Amino acid sequence: MKKILLSVALTACVTTANAQKALVLYYSETGTTKTVAEELQRQLGADIGSIEAVKPYSGNFQETIQRGQREMQNGQWPELKPLQSDIGKYDIIFLGYPIWFGTYANPIVTLVKSNDFAGKTVVPFCTFGSGGLNTSSDALKKALPKARIRQGYGVRTARVASAAKELDRFLKAYGYKKGSVSRLPDYSAQQPVTDADKAIFDAACSGYQFPLGTPQTVGKRTTDDSTDYKYTVKSRGFDGAESTSTVYVTVGKQQGAKPEFTEVVR
Ligand SMILES: Cc1cc2nc3c(=O)[nH]c(=O)nc-3n(C[C@H](O)[C@H](O)[C@H](O)COP(=O)(O)O)c2cc1C
Repeated sequence: MKKILLSVALTACVTTANAQKALVLYYSETGTTKTVAEELQRQLGADIGSIEAVKPYSGNFQETIQRGQREMQNGQWPELKPLQSDIGKYDIIFLGYPIWFGTYANPIVTLVKSNDFAGKTVVPFCTFGSGGLNTSSDALKKALPKARIRQGYGVRTARVASAAKELDRFLKAYGYKKGSVSRLPDYSAQQPVTDADKAIFDAACSGYQFPLGTPQTVGKRTTDDSTDYKYTVKSRGFDGAESTSTVYVTVGKQQGAKPEFTEVVR
């Protein structure tokens, strides 16, 4: 019954054309989030604006880590240039950012402190090395209690080439763009990983700059384009404490497709 209701809701939602005025507003230090923002703008036909720091970040990873940590520790968030776009004119704001330290990048802290998002619908989108959509969306809900924070979209830096296709599905599924999409199947129940499942996990994850841990169990689903894996993974944090995360992996159906991990949810 629940399933039927859900699919009815999804069908109703995707056939609703979006007449609301939309703005794509984003911060990007090294261009990845900008690429996604421009794709979103293209698909939505929306206005677009960037968020700029008065003193730009250098684009150097280590320098930004150091500056970002200093800002966080001192609570001295970066000053921003005045926005070119008037947020007040829009109903819905697609808010884009890179993930820094597990949540939205520091310039977004200044943005949400200094602008009125009351009554706005906010759709977060982000780019990341491994993940951070859920944690940053939750943080936005806390920072903007008078806005409606909707389900967002996130993509790994290494997979940004997949964003156009994924955004097309995302925008149709949530009714921001005309068109319909079929509902993706649920993952099967979690089962202990076999050697073959472990090999797929390793092929997807062992090239990543940080170890992601050891997969314990896996659920699977088959879509028109891919076989997807949802691994429960045990790892140790920098403090040595054990934690469990969920790692999503996809393998395209085309011949020779390599397993790719799409997101880590901590
Ligand atoms: C200071 C800093 C902290 C970061 N922290 C994370 C993190 O916690 N998790 C993650 O998955 N990626 C992290 N990243 C990677 C960025 O989210 C990723 O490279 C992003 O695509 C950069 O987007 P941009 O090119 O639009 O600036 C971090 C990058 C920087 C510079």
